[in-house]
Amino acid sequence: MEKDRLCSIGLLWVVTMWAGAGLRFGKVAGLGVNWGTQATHKLPPKTVVQMLKDNGIQKVKLFDADQSTMSALAGTNIEVMVAIPNDQLASMNNYNRAKEWVKTNVTLYNFNGGVNIKYVAVGNEPFLSSYNGSFLNVTFPALENIQNALNEAGVGDSIKATVPLNADVYYSPDSNPVPSAGRFRTDISDLMTEIVQFLNKNNAPFTVNIYPFLSLYGNDNFPFNYAFFDGVANPIVDSGTGISYTNVFDANFDTLVSALKAVGYKDMTIIVGEVGWPTDGDKNANTNNAYRFYNGLLPRLAANRGTPLRTGYIEVYLFGFIDEDAKSIAPGNFERHWGIFWYDGQPKYALDLSGQGQNKYPVGASNVEYLPKKWCTFNPNAKDLSKLGDNINYACSFSDCTALGYGSSCNNLDAQGNASYAFNMYFQVQNQGDLSCNFQGLATVTTQNISQGNCNFIIQIASSPSLGPPWVVLVLLMMLSFVSTKFWLGCR
Ligand SMILES: *[C@@H]1O[C@H](CO)[C@@H](O)[C@H](O)[C@H]1NC(C)=O
Ligand SMILES: *[C@@H]1O[C@H](CO)[C@@H](O)[C@H](O)[C@H]1NC(C)=O
Ligand SMILES: *[C@@H]1O[C@H](CO)[C@@H](O)[C@H](O)[C@H]1NC(C)=O
Ligand SMILES: *[C@@H]1O[C@H](CO)[C@@H](O)[C@H](O)[C@H]1NC(C)=O
Ligand SMILES: *[C@@H]1O[C@H](CO)[C@@H](O)[C@H](O)[C@H]1NC(C)=O
Repeated sequence: MEKDRLCSIGLLWVVTMWAGAGLRFGKVAGLGVNWGTQATHKLPPKTVVQMLKDNGIQKVKLFDADQSTMSALAGTNIEVMVAIPNDQLASMNNYNRAKEWVKTNVTLYNFNGGVNIKYVAVGNEPFLSSYNGSFLNVTFPALENIQNALNEAGVGDSIKATVPLNADVYYSPDSNPVPSAGRFRTDISDLMTEIVQFLNKNNAPFTVNIYPFLSLYGNDNFPFNYAFFDGVANPIVDSGTGISYTNVFDANFDTLVSALKAVGYKDMTIIVGEVGWPTDGDKNANTNNAYRFYNGLLPRLAANRGTPLRTGYIEVYLFGFIDEDAKSIAPGNFERHWGIFWYDGQPKYALDLSGQGQNKYPVGASNVEYLPKKWCTFNPNAKDLSKLGDNINYACSFSDCTALGYGSSCNNLDAQGNASYAFNMYFQVQNQGDLSCNFQGLATVTTQNISQGNCNFIIQIASSPSLGPPWVVLVLLMMLSFVSTKFWLGCR
């Protein structure tokens, strides 16, 4: 009897233990995503938060601290990185201003049932060479002020300030282009050293964005397979360490590890603030390559493999969660297509976010409301085509025509198809407004889906004005009808 009891307890214990281990083992220990909002039509924040939950995403990185986003995240326990945009860095050089920012955008949310803020991103890639040094003088003082303000507010132990940096703040010399020779860029090496010392003093992480896609985009001689994770014929051997590198992500990350080591902080925690692959706007930006990239990356993250110089868990934020059709395309047409979900929150390709390599789609947005099924198309009866070019340019300057470009999903349309695509994108951005499908008689509305092959002529989502929860609206309507009834019936 006694033994039977012991047995069942023992077996129960074993089963529970294994079940627990099974649940934990191999799961991405806290995968993060970037939630950007530069879109003409945004999904409601609550819908996006539900998508995060449905996909088991436990960390999210923002590009501001917008109130509606923060409200939707409140009470979820999802870890949040809030951010200060570059154009506000200069003002954060004033300590009182920094304290005000921290008070409004951090400490105010710091209560039971509030927002689980873990980091404040001070700027976004402020040292990109293309910014011509505009933020060189203001970034470090802003970082100091924000962390000091967090410390003064008593939350500095759990909330850290960090600067998401682009990977071009470090390099390895052309004479010895291997990860172990990694150093901070010479024009900013003193500044980078000061920043790293400050991060270290506050136990804050170094944050870097790593983009194998951009290695390929910038250089036609770049070995294509080296951008992915499924092996290359000729690994690059680091003569300094003897390590073979089979992918550029590892090599890039380890170049940073070496740069940190060279300034005396080889063990500093590194967060990958952004990594991902776009699906349109360039010959290498498509769902097949994105699928290949993520299905190499995610299982590695889940297995906590790390890189040759830094094994173990790495905190990583995928870029991005949802396409953003209003992003600047200065870096390239692909900028508006980084999402693992389309603009409407529907999945693009199979992607097992748990890193188990199962061929399944992530969970998309539910209850999405679309505009009516109406498209704007080239009017085949149009007589005067002399203004066609002007009208296409007009449409495209107010909407996203990046899919028409070379190597993109709509690049093989004929001239009329091009016009229809541009007109429809404009029509959708304008919420299908009455006058937005005319173009001097060159366009007309149709209820037929005019998509062609891979080229999707979209219907935008209906951006509902936020009226508050349904019951608020209901109460308002009840009050209104009560008051108006009283009025019309002349009650007193
Ligand atoms: C808080 O963040 C929001 C959104 O990023 C910003 O517009 C606002 O200026 C910030 N508040 C303060 C007091 O700095
Ligand atoms: C940086 O300088 C280049 C060349 O002088 C210029 O074309 C570009 O607009 C500048 N960018 C910024 C952000 O100032
Ligand atoms: C940054 O400071 C340096 C030295 O004080 C100065 O020469 C430079 O013009 C400043 N740069 C900007 C963009 O303000
Ligand atoms: C359609 O537009 C794209 C992008 O503007 C252009 O490259 C292509 O030549 C156009 N096709 C035709 C048939 O006009
Ligand atoms: C239109 O057709 C395309 C391609 O067949 C399809 O992917 C898309 O979902 C359709 N759009 C609508 C709104 O039905």
